[in-house]
Amino acid sequence: MPKEAVVQAKEKPQATHEIPTDLNREGVAEITAALRQLLADTFALYLKSKSFHWHMTGRHFRDYHLLLDEHSDQIFAMTDDIAERARKIGGTTLRSIGDISRHQRLKDNDEESVAPRVMLAELNTDNQALTRYLRSTHEICDKHNDVATASLIEVWIDQTERRTWFLSEIVQGL
Ligand SMILES: [Fe+2]
Repeated sequence: MPKEAVVQAKEKPQATHEIPTDLNREGVAEITAALRQLLADTFALYLKSKSFHWHMTGRHFRDYHLLLDEHSDQIFAMTDDIAERARKIGGTTLRSIGDISRHQRLKDNDEESVAPRVMLAELNTDNQALTRYLRSTHEICDKHNDVATASLIEVWIDQTERRTWFLSEIVQGL
């Protein structure tokens, strides 16, 4: 083999490794697809919570501004674990902002001005939808006996229900 060809062969990207998992191929595909959507929704909700934290106005500014920062941090903390669960079982995950927008089910809010009540009500609805998505992903994990992903999801459901609790209490009082 000529020297150049040897260098090229060395630089060629390696074929993807098979990740050892006892989950079957169909299970991995189904769980990975569900996690990809879940991750896109999580990023969408993270950015919306952060945007509303930045653009909050009004009498209760400090309370709402701080609450939404707490929520954003909690939501962002989910992202790495969701992506890495997909990789640990041999799947792939989102690669870009474009990929997020192609997979998210929660809608963005690009409005110039949003009233505080509307912000909180929208986040309340989105968090409730996220709980449903988490539950349906949990069902898929159960079907394929992926107990580790299911176990993480249980914690995220609890956190999401807590965010919903706070948001709905505030919205009902407004
Ligand atoms: Fe901030």
